[in-house]
Amino acid sequence: MDFVTLNNGIKMPLEGFGVFQVRDKEECRRSVLDAIRAGYRLIDTAASYTNEDAVGQAVREAIAEGICTREELFITSKMWVQDMQSYDTAKKAIHASLEKMGLEYLDLYLLHQAMKDYFSAWRAMEDAYREGKLRAIGVSNFYPHILTNFCETVEIKPAVNQVELHPFFSQEAALETMRYYQVQPEAWAPLGGGRYAPFENESLSAIAKAHSKSIGQIMLRWNVQRGVVVIPKSTHRERIVENLDIWDFSLSGEEMRQIDALDMGYTGTAIKHFDPDFVRMCVTRRIHD
Ligand SMILES: NC(=O)c1ccc[n+]([C@@H]2O[C@H](COP(=O)([O-])OP(=O)(O)OC[C@H]3O[C@@H](n4cnc5c(N)ncnc54)[C@H](OP(=O)(O)O)[C@@H]3O)[C@@H](O)[C@H]2O)c1
Repeated sequence: MDFVTLNNGIKMPLEGFGVFQVRDKEECRRSVLDAIRAGYRLIDTAASYTNEDAVGQAVREAIAEGICTREELFITSKMWVQDMQSYDTAKKAIHASLEKMGLEYLDLYLLHQAMKDYFSAWRAMEDAYREGKLRAIGVSNFYPHILTNFCETVEIKPAVNQVELHPFFSQEAALETMRYYQVQPEAWAPLGGGRYAPFENESLSAIAKAHSKSIGQIMLRWNVQRGVVVIPKSTHRERIVENLDIWDFSLSGEEMRQIDALDMGYTGTAIKHFDPDFVRMCVTRRIHD
């Protein structure tokens, strides 16, 4: 496993484990424990996934079992839009995430979307960072023009921007903006999130055969080789293990270029940040009273 150093000097693993849509608490707890047992140290959740409590439980169990220490883990959560109304609602949300997870601090906390009053929410995150409750703070789904304005305005620059990044939506221009502001890119849906039919793709299949690896492993390796943190999700133990087994081979320059060529230049997901209906759906979605 390789690590990256964030713009505030802390180390982040280049691969982690995501739990989006793992709504069943017991399944979430078991999957996170399986992941930590398999060697993952970064776990990615969010207030809106409504499984922060199950993630926290698995983390505490893993530490109690002696699999790893809290310091070896890198736990990420995200503030939902509902709480990005003001400084005070954001402050409460940070406290609620820590409470639900039963942790004294988080390694990374992200603004989930660039919606509502995200500047006030960020100021609450800056204060929690200064108090040591959050070791790093970042953003998610901040497109280049939004990230640029944000970085030019805030006091503490985001350490991470988590966006959709995989061979079919490679977002090279977005990565360039992140490099300019020293914001670490992190890929959501690194396996395509169940879309784009990557497992039937001929180019990926040929490269996978050449390395005796799976197509999923090739997709993950492509992202980490371009310096992007990946957080694949699976509730199947054998896939959890398989997805972490990407550290004993390298893709050649030519193979990287072949995978780059799969870029469609647009997202194929239902998560469309430029669509007013999607924004309205986010700003009206309530995850708590
Ligand atoms: N910030 C955001 O707005 C945002 C948005 C989306 C996601 N995320 C984060 O990013 C993480 C990853 O994204 P994601 O969950 O959407 O998508 P993903 O990790 O790209 O793909 C997950 C899908 O691939 C399947 N899968 C996993 N490993 C596989 C393998 N080796 N072979 C074949 N299929 C495999 C999973 O099924 P099984 O579970 O059945 O194995 C699941 O259907 C999330 O869990 C979440 O933490 C963030």
